Amino acid sequence: MSNLHRPSHTETIMTQVVQPNDTNPLGNLHGGRLMYWMDECSAISATKHSRAIVVTVSVDGVSFKNRIELGSFVTIKANVTRTFRTSMEVFIEVWSENIPKNTKIKCNEAYYTFVALDEHGTPIPVKEIHPETEYEQRLYDGAIRRRQVRLILGGKMKVEDAGELRSLFIKD
Ligand SMILES: CC(C)(COP(=O)(O)OP(=O)(O)OC[C@H]1O[C@@H](n2cnc3c(N)ncnc32)[C@H](O)[C@@H]1OP(=O)(O)O)[C@@H](O)C(=O)NCCC(=O)NCCS
Repeated sequence: MSNLHRPSHTETIMTQVVQPNDTNPLGNLHGGRLMYWMDECSAISATKHSRAIVVTVSVDGVSFKNRIELGSFVTIKANVTRTFRTSMEVFIEVWSENIPKNTKIKCNEAYYTFVALDEHGTPIPVKEIHPETEYEQRLYDGAIRRRQVRLILGGKMKVEDAGELRSLFIKD
């Protein structure tokens, strides 16, 4: 059996029921509550890979496509897509399900980035992850470009140093 670390080893699936105190006055799920659940689920996924304490360092643009009604079952699925030195990108998908009405819709997708820390709060290296399926490989390949976008936006990288994105911003 291979000892390689796979995205599938980090899969985390969490289901929550939307209760009255999760909703706004119109009876729909608060966006902040959903983002909290997404953060929790993706942090578990990153912890499965790093076997360390993790903190959220970045959340890529999350948009809310559909309302999620009181009583719905919200299922969140998270997987690590790629690791860098001390950070990990996690892809999250969210579905809302109303079983009596027999409906299930995809509501959100997002990328969260976590950093692994030691007990003093210092970033520590994480193991490399190896995609297995074609789908995992596509997420893995795209992660380098998404990382460069978030580091540029976070003021941590110069556009000139973003090899994969340079041509989008600079005409040589
Ligand atoms: C996460 C934290 C320890 C990183 O500290 P830092 O001084 O930026 O450390 P580094 O520069 O060594 O960066 C560590 C990693 O974070 C990544 N990183 C930093 N800022 C980032 C950003 N905006 N987006 C994506 N990744 C980022 C770096 O690329 C590096 O990853 P790598 O080693 O894989 O290349 C620090 O920013 C922190 O403690 N933030 C608060 C985290 C937190 O409390 N989250 C909960 C929100 S309340």
